[in-house]
Amino acid sequence: MLERFEKIGQDALAELKEVKDAASLENFRLKYLSRKGLVTQMLSQVGSFPPDQRPAAGQIANQVKKKITAEFEVVKNAINQAQAGKTAELIDVTLPGILPHIGRPHLITQTINDLLELFGRMGFSVARGPEVEDEWHNFVALNIPPHHPARDPLDNFYIDDNILLRTQTSTIQIRVMEKTKPPIRIVAPGRVYRPDTVDATHMFMFYQLEALVVDEDISMVDLKTTIDQFIHAFFGPAAKWRFRPSFFPFTEPSAEVDVLWTDRSDKETWVEMGGCGMVDPNVFDAVGIDSEKYTGWAFGFGIERLAMRKYGIDDIRLLFENDLRFLKQF
Ligand code: DAH
Repeated sequence: MLERFEKIGQDALAELKEVKDAASLENFRLKYLSRKGLVTQMLSQVGSFPPDQRPAAGQIANQVKKKITAEFEVVKNAINQAQAGKTAELIDVTLPGILPHIGRPHLITQTINDLLELFGRMGFSVARGPEVEDEWHNFVALNIPPHHPARDPLDNFYIDDNILLRTQTSTIQIRVMEKTKPPIRIVAPGRVYRPDTVDATHMFMFYQLEALVVDEDISMVDLKTTIDQFIHAFFGPAAKWRFRPSFFPFTEPSAEVDVLWTDRSDKETWVEMGGCGMVDPNVFDAVGIDSEKYTGWAFGFGIERLAMRKYGIDDIRLLFENDLRFLKQF
């Protein structure tokens, strides 16, 4: 009889070795450890031994039960842990995540950042000035006389007789030269305002990038070289540009800068990016810089035009309508 008890124990342990999943574990539990299982039966048989053998039978039966129960717990834990691992695997970390909607700077801001970075590499620092200006900085110091057509009230957003929204970032040239002694090498981005009728190439508000260099022995060669470097860095080495003689009250000589534009049907046109020239001595006199000792050059380019030429945009209004389908492309 006692041998049968031991055999139950051996069989149980051997079977337990084969248990690999929750279903066979449950079968094992039913067979051995449930209320009608072999272990329970074995314990109840202890009472049928003759009284002198009962203690020994009880001891063996309990040892067998203990051993089976302990091994059962070990296997059960192992199976539970494996199961938990499988559940964790159900979260597939290789699936693409849910992308948060991250915004980005507007194309104009991107372009300004690019321009400042590019001129920064050429040794220019950044200057800024107010959008609400006085006539001195917008006209007088820039050598634009009182009856010049640019000062016509109909061509400007005047706030009162002397104050207006600046029409050009050249105002910042004056503000920098009033405060800084040469050598000067700055770029200045900003908004300017003109009461123009809106169409594909005109807005009542747009952006300019102003540049000013003042030092001894600055010549038109420096101006042309800087523009050439800039155009090729910004538009790529194949870009073609030209100087076209022009007139501005604050530069002498003056030129306009055109960049070649090839449209979608391969038609080529020269597109004006802005004006430039050698700083007029009258401007140096207005800000108290010795025009015998110093010379300088300046330019003012339209930032929308630079962006439009670079990204193939043919209508300036697209930049201000804030249609995300357009803006998201950049
Ligand atoms: N301020 C001029 C404009 O708005 C552009 C310009 C021309 C700027 C010549 C300059 C310059 O600095 O030298 O049309």
